[in-house]
Amino acid sequence: MTVYLNGQFMPIEEASIPVLDRGFIFGDGVYEVIPVYSHVAFRLAEHLKRLQFSLDGIRLTNPHSDREWTKLITDLIKRNTAEDQYLYLHITRGVAKRDHAFPNPAVQPTVFMMSNPLLTPPAALLASGVGAISAPDNRWLRCDIKAISLLPNVLLRQMSIDAGCVETILIRDHSFLTEGAASNIFIVKNGVLLAPPKDNLMLPGVTYDVLLEIAAANSIPFEVRKIAKEEIFNADELLLTSSTKEVLAVTTLDNKPVGNGKPGVMFAKLHKHYQDFKRDVMRKT
Ligand code: PDD
Repeated sequence: MTVYLNGQFMPIEEASIPVLDRGFIFGDGVYEVIPVYSHVAFRLAEHLKRLQFSLDGIRLTNPHSDREWTKLITDLIKRNTAEDQYLYLHITRGVAKRDHAFPNPAVQPTVFMMSNPLLTPPAALLASGVGAISAPDNRWLRCDIKAISLLPNVLLRQMSIDAGCVETILIRDHSFLTEGAASNIFIVKNGVLLAPPKDNLMLPGVTYDVLLEIAAANSIPFEVRKIAKEEIFNADELLLTSSTKEVLAVTTLDNKPVGNGKPGVMFAKLHKHYQDFKRDVMRKT
């Protein structure tokens, strides 16, 4: 696997960073995950915009212009062979003596990128759906920043793995839905797709936007509004989205069936449209 680190492409075995990197010491950095279809980065402009938003959120100057990022990313995709890839971009505040305060003067940020083959959910999982558990959202108040300090997400996601499930659905203040530990969550009630509004308490998913665009383009009724905790447990369907999982049906929640316990008609429609969109739009950009 060829990766990129601070200006150079190299085999992953040769990539290393100093132990005083603030990403290692403080989790002081941000990241992006970008799917690549047929060797083309999907919605690159949107991902770079979100990256800029995250960098602004942690007050770190973007080390590259969008044009430079595009060139580096195109180069990384070419150096890796898989037709569909998932790119990981990671920027930290750089290497400095350990002090919570920002290095002054600022030091060179660390920039790391890697690519892995993109493995979308297998047919069996699409057919069965996945299990989820619910948990209080105990993260900070800037979940809109794609920060590398993911300890709360890691612990929350592991709770679902320990329960034999795939995702943890997060409820803020015992009252409303935010998102999953590593995905966005939608509910379906009476044929309407409902999405929580983007705010500081959730990551603005690029796949979330794609799903709502697909709904709009195909006259599927949808609403973006706050979703009460009770609505999650009384939903006809639950869906999760992310760049790597695309769209998946959640068929059990806290060990109880969601709706009739099978992927529903809304999932079937959206998944089909998503695959059509990939074939007809994403692979032809
Ligand atoms: N995670 N919310 C959280 C907390 C996430 O970590 C992710 C994605 C999403 C979905 O965003 P998008 O549709 O842009 O992938 C929502 C990535 C895949 C990860 O950390 O690996």
